[in-house]
Amino acid sequence: MLRYKYYMQIITTNYLVIGSGVAGLRAAIELGATGKVIVVTKDIPTESSTEYAQGGVAVAMSDEDEVGIHFEDTIKAGDGLCRKEAVKILVEEGPARIMELIEWGAKFDKDGTKLAFTLEAAHSRKRVLHAHGDSTGKELERVLINRVMSMHSIQRYPFCMAIDLIMEEGACKGAYILRSSASTRIPDVMAIYAKATILATGGAGQVFSRTTNPIVATGDGIAIAYRAGAVLEDMEFVQFHPTVLFAASAPHFLLTEAMRGEGAVLRNTNKESFMKTYHPDAELAPRDIVSRAIISEMVRTKSSHVYLDLTHLNPEFIKHRFPMIYSTCLQYQIDILKDMIPVSPAAHYMMGGVKTDINGTTNIPNLFAAGEVACTGVHGANRLASNSLLEGLVYGYRTGAEALKQYEGEREVFINETKDFDLLQGTAHPANSELEGIRESIRQIMWERVGIIRCGVSLNIAMEWLAQKEFVLNCNFDTRRGLELKNILTVASLITKAALKRKESSGAHYRTDSVVRDMSSQQHIQLMKNEYDFQLS
Ligand code: FUM
Repeated sequence: MLRYKYYMQIITTNYLVIGSGVAGLRAAIELGATGKVIVVTKDIPTESSTEYAQGGVAVAMSDEDEVGIHFEDTIKAGDGLCRKEAVKILVEEGPARIMELIEWGAKFDKDGTKLAFTLEAAHSRKRVLHAHGDSTGKELERVLINRVMSMHSIQRYPFCMAIDLIMEEGACKGAYILRSSASTRIPDVMAIYAKATILATGGAGQVFSRTTNPIVATGDGIAIAYRAGAVLEDMEFVQFHPTVLFAASAPHFLLTEAMRGEGAVLRNTNKESFMKTYHPDAELAPRDIVSRAIISEMVRTKSSHVYLDLTHLNPEFIKHRFPMIYSTCLQYQIDILKDMIPVSPAAHYMMGGVKTDINGTTNIPNLFAAGEVACTGVHGANRLASNSLLEGLVYGYRTGAEALKQYEGEREVFINETKDFDLLQGTAHPANSELEGIRESIRQIMWERVGIIRCGVSLNIAMEWLAQKEFVLNCNFDTRRGLELKNILTVASLITKAALKRKESSGAHYRTDSVVRDMSSQQHIQLMKNEYDFQLS
C-alpha cells in the first residue's frame, strides 16, 4: 500500500464547476451573477465535445415549427423512455436560451434576414440552427467563453482534472484536483472546497475504440460521481453516429447528419443506395437504425465501410454549407465534391449518466450535474439529433440557477492556503506501457462486444474480461492518463452491467437475443455503488 504525504493547496470558493463545454459554461454564467465560481477543465478550456459539434442546435423557432412538434419528435426518438417533464422543459425553454445567446453575440447562419434551419434525422420539421455552416459548437463555445471571461467572479483553471469528490458525512464538499500540466514528480494536487459542485464533464466516447468524441471524453464525471455514491441511470444507452470518416491514418472525424439532411446518400461498396430498404425515412431514419443498416451492409458486402455520397449536389453549395468538412477531408485526399466519402459508425453520445432531477440536483447533497454527464431522462433510449447543445444550454442554466437559489445569501468566499495532506492511497501501478495497453484493449472489447449490436453472450464476455482488470481500480495513480484509465474501466463496466440488465432492445440498445418488450412497463435501469442495482419506472 502506498501513501503519499505532501503539501496540497486548499482553495475555498462558493461554486465549483467541473468541465467547460456548453453546460458547464452556461451554469457558471448563472452562478457568477452572485458568487465566486471556479471552472476547472482537464485540458485547454475549449477542449470539449461542444467545440466539435458540427450539425447544430435543435430549437422550435422557425415559422413552420412548434414546441409541441419538437416535443413529439424527441419523445418518439427516445423510444418510450424519455421523461416527459424533462423534454417539455427542454423544448419550451430552448428558444429563450437561444435568443439570449444571440444577444450575447452568437452568429447563426441565415437565409436572407431570417435564421436558417436545416433538417436532421427524425425531425419532422427543419429546426436545426447552425453556425459557419458546420462549426456550430465552436460558435457556442466562443460566445460562452467570452461571456465567462467578462465576469470577474469566475476564475478558470485549465489543465486541472478532477480526481474525486471531497465527501464529508455523505455530502459533497468540492473536489480533489490534479494539475495535469505539472512537471514535477510530486503529484500537484489541489483540494477545492465549494458549497455546490457542478459536474459538467461531458461524455464517455473514449470508452470505445471508435468514437467521434475528443480525447478528453473519458467518462470522468460519471466515474467520480459513482465512486462517491451517486445514482446513475440509463447507462446502457450509448448513441452511435452512423457517418464517421473511415480512412487509413485519418481521425474518427464526424460527417454531420446535416449532410444527409441536405441530400447526401449512403451507398454500399457496390455503389448501391440502400437505406430505403431499411426504413421509409431512408437516410433520415433515426440514428440507431441507420447505424445498424450500415453494419448490415458492411457485413453483406464484406467491407469495412460504406460511402456517403454528395457528388450529385451543387459543389458551390457544399463548399459554402460544409466548409470545415470540405477542407478537413481534403487533408486526407478526399475531395467531397468529386469523391464518395468512406464512412462507418462510431460511438458518439451517452444518453445515460448521473441521475438528476429537472434542476440538476443529484442524490448527493451539494452535487449537481448538467449536460452529457447527467441523465435528466430528456433523451430516453435515443437522443434526437442536435438536442444535446440545447440540453447543455437549458439544463446548464437551470442547474446554475438552482445551485444559486439553494446557497443564495451565503457569504462569498475565496480562500487560498496550503496544508500538509495524505491523499493518494492504493497499490503501486504497472508501468505506463502496460497501462496504455490495458486502455486500448478495454476500448477494443467495448467496441466489439458492447457496441452497436449486442447479445447476452458478447456482454458476458466483456463483463468477465473487464472484471479481470479490476486491479486497476485500486492503483494509486497520480497522472491524468492513469486516472482516466480508472474512469474508462469504471464506465465500461457500468455500461456493460446495465446492458446485461436490459434484456430487450430499446432505442440505441440493440440485442440480437432481445426478449419481447413489455411496452406497458417502461423501466429505467439505475446503478449505485455497493448498495443496490435496481430498475425503477
Ligand atoms: O451529425 C451531427 O452533426 C451530430 C449532431 C448531434 O450529435 O446532435
